[in-house]
Amino acid sequence: MRASFLALGALAAAVVAQDTYWNITSKPFYLVIKAQNVTLNGKYLGACHEGAAIEGLCVTTPSTANYVQFNYNTSVYQQPSVSGLLIWNLIGVNGGTLNVSSTMRFSYNSGSNVALPIFLPGNSDYTQVSFDNDGKLGIGSFQDDTKPLPNYTPGYLYRWNVCTTYYGYLYSTLAWTVGIHSPQNPTCQKVDIYRKFV
Ligand SMILES: *[C@@H]1O[C@H](CO)[C@@H](O)[C@H](O)[C@H]1NC(C)=O
Ligand SMILES: *[C@@H]1O[C@H](CO)[C@@H](O)[C@H](O)[C@H]1NC(C)=O
Ligand SMILES: *[C@@H]1O[C@H](CO)[C@@H](O)[C@H](O)[C@H]1NC(C)=O
Ligand SMILES: *[C@@H]1O[C@H](CO)[C@@H](O)[C@H](O)[C@H]1NC(C)=O
Repeated sequence: MRASFLALGALAAAVVAQDTYWNITSKPFYLVIKAQNVTLNGKYLGACHEGAAIEGLCVTTPSTANYVQFNYNTSVYQQPSVSGLLIWNLIGVNGGTLNVSSTMRFSYNSGSNVALPIFLPGNSDYTQVSFDNDGKLGIGSFQDDTKPLPNYTPGYLYRWNVCTTYYGYLYSTLAWTVGIHSPQNPTCQKVDIYRKFV
């Protein structure tokens, strides 16, 4: 697994834009894949280099390394919390003391219904996620536009897939299907994601 090496000097020197709203962090956890496909089932997701201080979520073998450890940040202003941020700490690159809290947001492609979870430093942008009582990773939805609008239809969606994707590199990564149809990327395989505390 590659780390994010490039341009980190500049990053460390820069002030990373960060709102303190999401300042309650969870204990670290692994993100474990549950899939019909026995090759994928039980594998972990790990932060993988997609660009300078940019990471995707790659399929990887179980480990205890930093790249497979994530946190969930929630807010004191939303208690009990219903959603929060998926966090990965970019640490110690090049033997340095860097420790940059990075937040997951979806990268959307207007030409596709497959969105990619991407981590960038700080939390100036994010896609809120949730864990249900079983520790299953989902995303809250409040309007269902397949039905007459406006409507209030709260619930969790679990539209996770593992697909061969290309953001900065060709990898097998986690992806999200936008909408009710099958992912148009033919390599996608449906998965569920569970958190397992370290
Ligand atoms: C997550 O919460 C921790 C603990 O307060 C904080 O240090 C970190 O900066 C937060 N990360 C983000 C991206 O908000
Ligand atoms: C988070 O922010 C609240 C409100 O500003 C503050 O009371 C609390 O101490 C902060 N918690 C942490 C872990 O920084
Ligand atoms: C299971 O997943 C692996 C890795 O993504 C893939 O190469 C293989 O084709 C999949 N098998 C089936 C039966 O879909
Ligand atoms: C990085 O920062 C986080 C939150 O501020 C802390 O929990 C973690 O222990 C730090 N990691 C290292 C290796 O310093």
